[in-house]
Amino acid sequence: MLQPVPTLSKTPEGYRHLDVAPICGALGAELTGVDLSTDLSDDVMAEIHRALNDYCVIFFRDQELTPDQQKAFGLRFGTLNIHPIYEPLEGHPEILQVVKEADAMNNIGDSWHSDATFLPEPPMGSILYAREVPPFGGDTLFANLYLAYEMLTDGMRRMLSGMNAVHSDAFLVQASAERNSTRSTKLKDGVHEAKETLHPVIRTHPDTGRKCLYINEPFTDRFEGMSREESKPLLDYLLAHIKKPEFTCRFRWQVGSMAFWDNRCTHHYALNDYHGHRREMHRVTVNGDRPY
Ligand code: SIN
Repeated sequence: MLQPVPTLSKTPEGYRHLDVAPICGALGAELTGVDLSTDLSDDVMAEIHRALNDYCVIFFRDQELTPDQQKAFGLRFGTLNIHPIYEPLEGHPEILQVVKEADAMNNIGDSWHSDATFLPEPPMGSILYAREVPPFGGDTLFANLYLAYEMLTDGMRRMLSGMNAVHSDAFLVQASAERNSTRSTKLKDGVHEAKETLHPVIRTHPDTGRKCLYINEPFTDRFEGMSREESKPLLDYLLAHIKKPEFTCRFRWQVGSMAFWDNRCTHHYALNDYHGHRREMHRVTVNGDRPY
């Protein structure tokens, strides 16, 4: 790294309802002083939203939430996404049960990604709540896509600025039988045809106006107007750049922890390092806008 990485995480100032404690220089803050099962005032919600904009991913501890209360919290930020490819939690189409049974080989989310960028309007954020955690491992890592963009050279930023990339769900739907044989969270039956959509490689965040690098490993297939082979070297370079440790943070889960990540300016990665133990999370995903 030629230049020092700027620290995103500013000292929290001006929060009146919440205690905000950054966990890393790159992104992430733990918020205390709030019970998410209650009907929070607009002022508190505005501060939570502000913390999400300031820190890209926010964490809460010791929350006791029913599925309906988790959905109610998500609904304060927008309409809820029903995952087009994964089976939902029974009776709750808006909740994705991210589970790995003790005897399962693989988990879901074990690559650096933003959720569902194969959709024309990908989610604005995801709210993941821990119901059962292994005695060790199962942490989630997050990466800051603003920093990834800002730490590119002027020349690279200029080159990428007019480019679009093709995003696709082929990675999930074309290997569904194989994926279902080793994972506990199952893909829906009969979704086999991959769909493609175009997104800008450099995305402007609608709330902050900041630019971020908007490609990811499982869903970005190639650059517009280029073949996969032509795209691969540049894609590989950019994907390796995004996962530099200096752009990341890591969260250790406990039962009752919740993470809310801004899906427009972060990647996440779910570690699969707890073989023989069960992990169960509930994810509520908030719909977003078409990237520009
Ligand atoms: C995901 O939503 O990609 C899963 C994250 C996790 O299980 O930590």
